[in-house]
Amino acid sequence: ELKITKICCIGAGYVGGPTCSVMAYKCPNIRMTVVDKSAERIEAWNSDKLPIYEPGLFEIVKERRNKNLFFSTDIPTAIREAELIFISVNTPTKNFGNGRGRAADLKYVEDAARMIAETAQSSKIVVEKSTVPVRAAESIMHILRANQKADVRYDILSNPEFLAEGTAVADLINPDRVLIGGEQTDDGLRAIETLSWVYERWIPKERILSTNTWSSELSKLAANAFLAQRISSINSLSAVCEATGADVSEVAKAVGLDSRIGSKFLQASVGFGGSCFQKDILNLVYICEGLNLPEVAAYWQQVIDMNEYQKTRFSQKIIECLFNTVSDKRIAIFGFAFKKNTGDTRETPAITVCKILLEEGAKLEIYDPKVEAEQIFSDLTSASVTENPEFVRQAVKVQSDPYTAVERAHAIVVCTEWDEFQSLDYNKIYGSMMKPAYIFDGRKILDHDALQKIGFHVQTIGKKLNRAGLLRSWGQIPQFN
Ligand code: NAD
Ligand code: UDX
Repeated sequence: ELKITKICCIGAGYVGGPTCSVMAYKCPNIRMTVVDKSAERIEAWNSDKLPIYEPGLFEIVKERRNKNLFFSTDIPTAIREAELIFISVNTPTKNFGNGRGRAADLKYVEDAARMIAETAQSSKIVVEKSTVPVRAAESIMHILRANQKADVRYDILSNPEFLAEGTAVADLINPDRVLIGGEQTDDGLRAIETLSWVYERWIPKERILSTNTWSSELSKLAANAFLAQRISSINSLSAVCEATGADVSEVAKAVGLDSRIGSKFLQASVGFGGSCFQKDILNLVYICEGLNLPEVAAYWQQVIDMNEYQKTRFSQKIIECLFNTVSDKRIAIFGFAFKKNTGDTRETPAITVCKILLEEGAKLEIYDPKVEAEQIFSDLTSASVTENPEFVRQAVKVQSDPYTAVERAHAIVVCTEWDEFQSLDYNKIYGSMMKPAYIFDGRKILDHDALQKIGFHVQTIGKKLNRAGLLRSWGQIPQFN
């Protein structure tokens, strides 16, 4: 029995695009239409250069596009035809008014709900896929039901998305779990079952979890808070390692081998980035404050504060090592995306590192294999980074080749863990840099011993590397330590 034949998704971004592409790929009998108010984005989805980069995505899009996968700006038609509608618009941190800097801005979710209420001529299952505060489904429900036409009824579900960027396609094809929250009424349970039926086309039923709506909404915030907390925990210990001679990788391994703790997400780094972690934790903190739970709010706020500390600490270390001045020094930045295998720069730690170096007068040569120059300039000239965009434009060059970026540079700063950084010719790089040549590995991906042997001064996160260590590894006995 075919329970659903047409699905509409409002919002063709990092979530809506890949999610519906994989759904179309796995459900050839369902017609998926992804709509967006941005004509530019839709045009890109219909072209050979998709608006976002994800490994494997283009192949899937090419295979299903204009068969059962459509990208369109005709939002009303797509709403009218669909039996089920995903809302997967952005829910950024509010930058104005009440809750500014913390609360999630639900304006776009509300716009989408109003559009559905205005257009729908038949009953719909409306699925909240955007990450939202607890009880947001209730607001959507109010808007829909207050504008309900006769013979039209709405079921509202919460179905948060857990994909990570850079691995979106793999995560969607083979998710750890799919979470569906709904009203615990006959109608609500029937709607849950219908959405579950769609996922069962390719996901084993035991991995599809259903809960009440509020649990589902809170679980999404909780999952991101837990993941980010692990990173802040290991990053806090990285500072202890640098001060004591312990090695954070060894500590992470020893701790992670405890099966109760587990080894994933314990990679110390310059700090976490991405559009979700900070936004969702701030949102959680804001909710806790609203519920008069200040201790809980403070607990989670610390995960963000530790991340800010880590980004700043790493940047300060660069300046300190370069004899406390980077003024007019060329510094090559390797990687600008917030993680490898994506061109996304939202909340990337590279922005903080670049901001601090620019404030100290450095000249930056930035190389990232996937981020467009235009994006880097737009990030670094934004009001939160500088009051003087012209100064930034003078001080920053974006290079399309890493070897050009390092010419006459005093230092290389690794901000993103792109695989290709591991296989560059560091002998050649050393040759074209100023001496002493420094490498600051904010991602712990390079072979530090090998780099030291070439002659680099190497600094990384959570491990003291000194020249004496280098002599020891050469088999010489240092006279001074
Ligand atoms: P995005 O900014 O990439 O995409 C959102 C899209 O929605 C934009 O293209 C925008 O033009 C469109 N839009 C906004 N309002 C609209 C409207 N009224 N009608 C039509 N289109 C509209 O955002 P994203 O990264 O895809 O995130 C979407 C949601 O998913 C957010 O709530 C986010 O927290 C959540 N989420 C994101 C990720 C991720 O990895 N990016 C993972 C899980 C969950
Ligand atoms: C995250 C969640 O993982 C995903 O489930 C949710 O749906 C959206 O938010 P994403 O932000 O795309 O996904 O990437 P993620 O892999 O979680 O990485 C986030 C940041 O943490 C990156 O900057 C990454 O480099 C950093 N990170 C991750 C670490 O510094 N150390 C780690 O051990 C893991």
